[in-house]
Amino acid sequence: MIPLIDDPAHLSGDRIPPNYRDLARLHQTIRMRKAFTILEFGLGYSTIVMADALMKNKLDWEALDEKPKIRNSTPFQLHSVDTSHKWIEQTKSMLPKHLATLITLHYSLAKVGTFQERACHFYEELPDVVPDFIYLDGPDPATVVGNIGGASWQNRDRVVTSGDLLRLEPQLIPGTLIVIDGRTANARFLQAHFYRNWQINYNMASDVTVCELQEKPLGKLNQATIVYCLGKSW
Ligand SMILES: C[S@@+](CC[C@H](N)C(=O)[O-])C[C@H]1O[C@@H](n2cnc3c(N)ncnc32)[C@H](O)[C@@H]1O
Repeated sequence: MIPLIDDPAHLSGDRIPPNYRDLARLHQTIRMRKAFTILEFGLGYSTIVMADALMKNKLDWEALDEKPKIRNSTPFQLHSVDTSHKWIEQTKSMLPKHLATLITLHYSLAKVGTFQERACHFYEELPDVVPDFIYLDGPDPATVVGNIGGASWQNRDRVVTSGDLLRLEPQLIPGTLIVIDGRTANARFLQAHFYRNWQINYNMASDVTVCELQEKPLGKLNQATIVYCLGKSW
């Protein structure tokens, strides 16, 4: 059973309460797209909710009489990277046992860097996975280390500008979905630098940007994955 995550015992100090509407949408999207491998930037309640959706996807897959031939060496794994040991421990303490096997939490520093001469920041180390679903909700900019020519993210006016997805983009497979929670300036930065065929939509009411990699399948395995996950007419 998922714990009551707005239980007062969990709402101490600087803890932000869950946004159930956002979490429900996230769950629904992962179920609808039959996601296999999730990469999350910035853990929290979302980690539990996404793992629950992934577990349901796993059970559906296991119940198939005939499984399509696909390539995925990390099926039904959720990898979440975070810059805070404290929040990693807090999230660990909330993980329901039956979902914990699907989840790997990774600590990494986020450091100032550049992409094509433009200031941004990158996690120092990412999990070695090729996700078909990415949730961008971290890092907390206050945890970004370093400066470039004096400019740092210790200045709270500086918008969060994560460049990690620009490095990962070349290896993402057609059909991949990125969900960006808020972080509109970051979404625009990514949009300005992506080079592949992304369909990008910003939903102002929910303050979410969704990017779908719409390209012809790379081959038979990718095609079979797309048909299973997204349907024949995708
Ligand atoms: C926007 S929060 C990520 C929230 C998470 N994706 C969720 O939806 O629950 C960004 C960072 O704040 C920290 N954090 C996680 N859960 C938090 C919470 N409930 N309150 C405050 N900070 C949190 C983590 O270090 C995380 O990377």
